[in-house]
Amino acid sequence: MKDILTAPFMVEMIRTATNMYDHGWDERNGGNISLMLSEAEVKEYLDTDAVIRAIPIGFSAPELEGKYFLVTGTGKYFKNVQYAPEVNLGVVRLADGGKTAELLWGYADGGKFTSEFPAHMMSHVARLAVDADNRVVMHCHPANLLAMTYVHSLDEREFTRTLWQMCTECIVVFPDGVNVLPWMLCGTNEIGEATAEKMATARLVVWSQHGIYGAGKDLDETFGLIETAEKAAEIYMKIAHLPIVQSITDDQMHQLEAHFGVKAREGYLD
Ligand code: 13P
Ligand code: ZN
Repeated sequence: MKDILTAPFMVEMIRTATNMYDHGWDERNGGNISLMLSEAEVKEYLDTDAVIRAIPIGFSAPELEGKYFLVTGTGKYFKNVQYAPEVNLGVVRLADGGKTAELLWGYADGGKFTSEFPAHMMSHVARLAVDADNRVVMHCHPANLLAMTYVHSLDEREFTRTLWQMCTECIVVFPDGVNVLPWMLCGTNEIGEATAEKMATARLVVWSQHGIYGAGKDLDETFGLIETAEKAAEIYMKIAHLPIVQSITDDQMHQLEAHFGVKAREGYLD
C-alpha cells in the first residue's frame, strides 16, 4: 500500500487549501472542499474494508452511496492543512443509502467533515446530473464577492451581467453565470438543498453576506472559476463608486461567444 500523503489527489488538495488561504479566501476555519475520488485511486493507498468509524450525516444522498470523498474537516483552518493533513482532512465513503459516512482515513483528532457537508453532497448530486465529469465542490469567503452582496442587486441576471462586464474573459469562464442565494443560515440541510437547486443551472452559487460555492471537474478548474469571479468582483468594488465612462457591450459579449465557442446563459444578453 502506498503512502496516501504522496497521492496526487492529496498533494493537490493540500496545495489548493494552502493557495486559497494565501488568497485570503479562508480566514480561520472559513471554507471547505470536497473532492470525489474513484475507488481504484483510493485502493492504491487505503484498505477500503478498514472503516475507522461510521459518522451519521443527518440527511440521505442515495445517489452517492459507495462514493469516496476527500473532505476538509469542520472547524479546521486551511492555514494548517499543509502541516497536519491527517487532522484537517478525511477520506470518507458514503454508505447505508447515503445516510452514513464511513471514515477511512483522517480526522485524526476525532473530528469530522465540514458542517457544510449537506451543501457539498447535495451539490455533487446536482452537478453530476448535468455534468458526469464533476468531481469538486469548493466553498470560501472571498472579500470582494462578499462585499458585492451588500451593495449590488441580488438579481441573478443583473449580478451575472455585472461580473461579465468587469473582465473580458468572464463570460468565457462562466457562461452559465452566477446564481445567488439570499442570506440563509449556514451549515443546515436547508441551505444545502437551496444550493444544490441553484447548482443545477450554474457552477457558481453566491451565498449573500457569506461567500461562494464553485463546482468543477478538478481542483484547479474550480479554483480558477472562483478566482475569475472574485477578480471581477474586485474590479466592481474598485469602480462602482466612480462614474462609468465605458464598459463591455452586449455586442462585444456576442463576439466573445462566437470567438470562444461558448453560449451565454439564455436571456442574459440583449
Ligand atoms: P466548517 O469549519 O464546518 O467547514 O465551516 C466553515 C464555513 O465556511 C461554514 O460556512
Ligand atoms: Zn462559509
